[in-house]
Amino acid sequence: MSNLKLAIQRKGRLTDKSVELLKLCGLDIESYFERLVVTARNFPLEILFLRDDDIPEYVQDSVADAGIVGENVLFEKQTTTMEMEKLGFGRCSLIIAHPEKNQLKSINEIDGKTIATSYPNILKNFLKKNKINAKIIELSGSVEIAPSLGVADLICDIVSTGNTLMMNKLKKSFNVFDSEAVLVSSKATLNNPEKNGILQDLLGRIRSVKNARDSKYLMMNIPKTSLERIVEIIPSLKSPTVLHLADENMLAVHAVIPSNKFWHIIEDLKAAGASGILLLPIENLIQ
Ligand code: PRP
Ligand code: ZN
Repeated sequence: MSNLKLAIQRKGRLTDKSVELLKLCGLDIESYFERLVVTARNFPLEILFLRDDDIPEYVQDSVADAGIVGENVLFEKQTTTMEMEKLGFGRCSLIIAHPEKNQLKSINEIDGKTIATSYPNILKNFLKKNKINAKIIELSGSVEIAPSLGVADLICDIVSTGNTLMMNKLKKSFNVFDSEAVLVSSKATLNNPEKNGILQDLLGRIRSVKNARDSKYLMMNIPKTSLERIVEIIPSLKSPTVLHLADENMLAVHAVIPSNKFWHIIEDLKAAGASGILLLPIENLIQ
């Protein structure tokens, strides 16, 4: 049986989170540091550690069967590689930034300027859509120093924490594109029953990890008389589990809730008489 070859970023913003996701999917992967290829012990998958910029092309050319890459790189490279699933990490924005002292008031002020970027294709489309004429200078790295070197008036680059901008005395002027890490694959992989079978299995696991990450398991004790009110408050996926307790006037209620809802409902739950409220992480949630 052949393995699914999955390309992930060798060293960068997405590396640790990509490995963490695969481990949460139940894959037994050996420590990956300084290795180019790692095989999972309990799943037919091989991880190839590559430069993220090369991943769309490698997947297109079937050097890898699938990959984890940022949408920024995926869209810039204009390959036939397809986005299969958003992964909810590696969020960043491609933005246009200006030196602190030369503020841009409107998007039209970009007209006639010179912009340094590693994303010429995405930038070209953005300028065209906004009917702006600007000169693009393509750089493969260290784009942020271009204005201070006098190479460009503006830059178009990725921002995640904003540290790089701040350190280079640059400020965001316009958002071009929001990006996150995605699982990508190719037609060739989908058309290969064996590889596609492994890919679909992996996708199912990834979805269950994502669901679990967005959900929490809520447990609490309530007075029997409050049950109706509590059920109203809990935005549970399905009807909550209700258990009897030794104290006949009390019940235990368990439910899966969206993680971000907890702090909105906690006061209502307390007001309805809930006590011993426990909120637990969920490792996997298969729907
Ligand atoms: C981007 C960008 C900046 C940095 C910004 O590089 O080119 O250098 O991230 O991040 P910050 O806002 O957190 O400071 P990226 O991680 O995409 O690396 P790469 O271009 O080398 O792949
Ligand atoms: Zn890169």
